[in-house]
Amino acid sequence: MERTDVLILGAGAAGMMCAIEAGRRGRRVVLLDHATRPGEKIRISGGGRCNFTNLAVPPERFLSRNPRFAVSALRRFTPADFIARLDAAGISWHEKVLGQLFCDGSARQIVDMLTGQMAAVGVELRLAESVRRIESDGAFVVTTDRGPVRSDRLVVATGGKSIPKMGATGLAYRIAEQFGLAVTETRPALVPLTFAEQELVRLKPLAGVSVEARVTAGRIGFEEGLLFTHRGLSGPSILQISSYWREGEELSVDLARGRDVAAELKAARAEAGRVAVQTALARFLPDKVVAMVLSQSGISGRLADQSNAALDRLGAVVHRWQVKPVGSEGYRTAEVTLGGVDTDGLDSRTMEARSVPGLHFIGEAVDVTGWLGGYNFQWAWSSGWAAGQAV
Ligand code: FDA
Repeated sequence: MERTDVLILGAGAAGMMCAIEAGRRGRRVVLLDHATRPGEKIRISGGGRCNFTNLAVPPERFLSRNPRFAVSALRRFTPADFIARLDAAGISWHEKVLGQLFCDGSARQIVDMLTGQMAAVGVELRLAESVRRIESDGAFVVTTDRGPVRSDRLVVATGGKSIPKMGATGLAYRIAEQFGLAVTETRPALVPLTFAEQELVRLKPLAGVSVEARVTAGRIGFEEGLLFTHRGLSGPSILQISSYWREGEELSVDLARGRDVAAELKAARAEAGRVAVQTALARFLPDKVVAMVLSQSGISGRLADQSNAALDRLGAVVHRWQVKPVGSEGYRTAEVTLGGVDTDGLDSRTMEARSVPGLHFIGEAVDVTGWLGGYNFQWAWSSGWAAGQAV
């Protein structure tokens, strides 16, 4: 039977980082993936430029049943550590907004850097190979469609359920369950939200329109772009809030962030009362959004015709627009999976299962989910690096 020191399942961001680190330590590493190419999500991420990390990765920007779990790995392999690798490889990058770092050129450069580093330390990368069965007798025997491989260490880096078309399978959760580890509830996150048919009829004309918004669900809010779509809402502020929003909850949306629409309309009324409310509002909002808020607040005519109460009502609709999504677009378009292998069962330094020596879980498979903005890749690099030191 074929033998290796470390068998890693999943050649994504986390699996490749772990393979490089274990290889550097002189371990024999086999990295196996059922896809035909490694790092496909890296390649398509960030519009092809990969938002590979964020300048700051505080624990409150990660969702987990235990938000402190990620701290150890994130401190030991930091954004600066990953940036240093890109610099050494001659890959140039820039900050876009909010500390989000992207390649100047192409995300493919990162995939090439990782595969090059794996080759340099002798990692055996096996693609288009499917896992059939996993057994354990102290060591692990993974039977694939090409036969069994025996390994002292098994690292599960097969990600979550997001984008099945790209090879996501949820295998990690099945392996966790097979070995008696708990898996927290999983759900699509960083995902567009959808409206009921009735709401859609009203809002469909807005499809394609975007505004700079503040979107709030309960006590958490995000100030970023919002995009009306044919099915509901998208854009960074909606993707962010989707990780917190739950079915049945309303979102409160400030459609003109940083302005005071009622006060500004009252001032405009004093100066140019003959101007139509619609025209005055168009200074703050796209025309189609203006039409929607006017129809919702039942207001029309000239500024001079409006009472203070009417302008306050209009301001309230603009700054506290209430919408109730019915659901999300699901795993088909979700950037990540919320939830996963319960961190209570894992050692935060090594990512090793407390009850199953030699079995490690890293990356998106674990119940650690970052905000939009490079946090998920940083978690993949950091958790992969941490496991790579231990296996
Ligand atoms: P990942 O999912 O990357 O890798 C898992 C690997 O396991 C895959 O290669 C898969 O083929 C393999 N696999 C799965 N099941 C298997 C099985 N049964 N047998 C064998 N192999 C199997 N994050 C971020 O920080 N910045 C960004 O810009 C973006 N952008 C982005 C865009 C889009 C469209 C998506 C879908 C996601 C993002 N993300 C992101 C999220 C980011 O891609 C994600 O968090 C990481 O890729 C997770 O890395 P992992 O290595 O854990 O899993």
